[in-house]
Amino acid sequence: MSICYLDGNFLPRDEARISPMDRGFLFGDGGYEVIPVYGRKPFRLDEHLNRLSNTLAEIRLADPLERTAWVSIVNELVARNPWDDQSIYVHVSRGADRVRNHAFPVPTRPTVFLMSDPLARVPPALVASGVAAVSAVDTRWLRCDLKTTSLLANCLLRQQAVDQGCAETILFRDGFLTEGAASNIFVVREGVILAPPKSHLILPGITYDVVISLAAAHGQPCEVCEISEEEVRSADELWLTSSSKEVLAIIRLDDRPVGKGVPGPVCRAMYDRYQAFRDRESGHD
Ligand code: PDD
Repeated sequence: MSICYLDGNFLPRDEARISPMDRGFLFGDGGYEVIPVYGRKPFRLDEHLNRLSNTLAEIRLADPLERTAWVSIVNELVARNPWDDQSIYVHVSRGADRVRNHAFPVPTRPTVFLMSDPLARVPPALVASGVAAVSAVDTRWLRCDLKTTSLLANCLLRQQAVDQGCAETILFRDGFLTEGAASNIFVVREGVILAPPKSHLILPGITYDVVISLAAAHGQPCEVCEISEEEVRSADELWLTSSSKEVLAIIRLDDRPVGKGVPGPVCRAMYDRYQAFRDRESGHD
């Protein structure tokens, strides 16, 4: 049984109820985070909570909780659920109103919802084989730097991959790489990691930051720069990163092999470094 948190109470997820007038339901009006937990320790908790607080500020939704309260709710949720490795979903919506109205309710009473699931680790065989991806034009709005619950474009784009038996959809806007439907994308050309710059067009991934700092710490050449579609299509390696998928090689794009069609050496090295870093941070080495 999964225990969740809703507006001040911990309760079984099956018993949690919200109003159909909640703006999260009616408008997708809210922000969220997904935080991986290893051995009952949330990974990069501060970074996730910083990003949530930035999302809420940018969508003009006053943060309903102090940082200490966020930390204790996350930790208590982890403690109340049975799994050592968990995925914690954190959601703040602009709450319910009496009528459906685009303008914000006055006063606003945000809905705070957190839930836990067992962390779905990428199976070692998939890490070893890599995954296939498709590409699409990035049809999302111009504030992709915010982790908002309005995710219809991301869902439609991810479904394009699923429909073709692939794991992710790589997005291009005006001929340049942005990110994946639910991940950041890294490119390797001639031994150099290339990453698209942080801007309003991509989510500033927590895993993205870890990868870039691990590259710097290990003397692995890495450049943050605009990457053209042509550079992606002729890359030696492509990988996706996210809190749940960690570092995962993409070995086919639109049914053509990426590089040699197997996970490349730079990806494999980064995967190992990421695992070691994560274990160190979680106190497991
Ligand atoms: N998604 N870009 C997008 C559009 C994402 O949705 C995600 C993560 C990322 C990677 O961010 P991070 O490294 O902080 O997980 C990049 C989460 C996991 C989700 O929506 O489920």
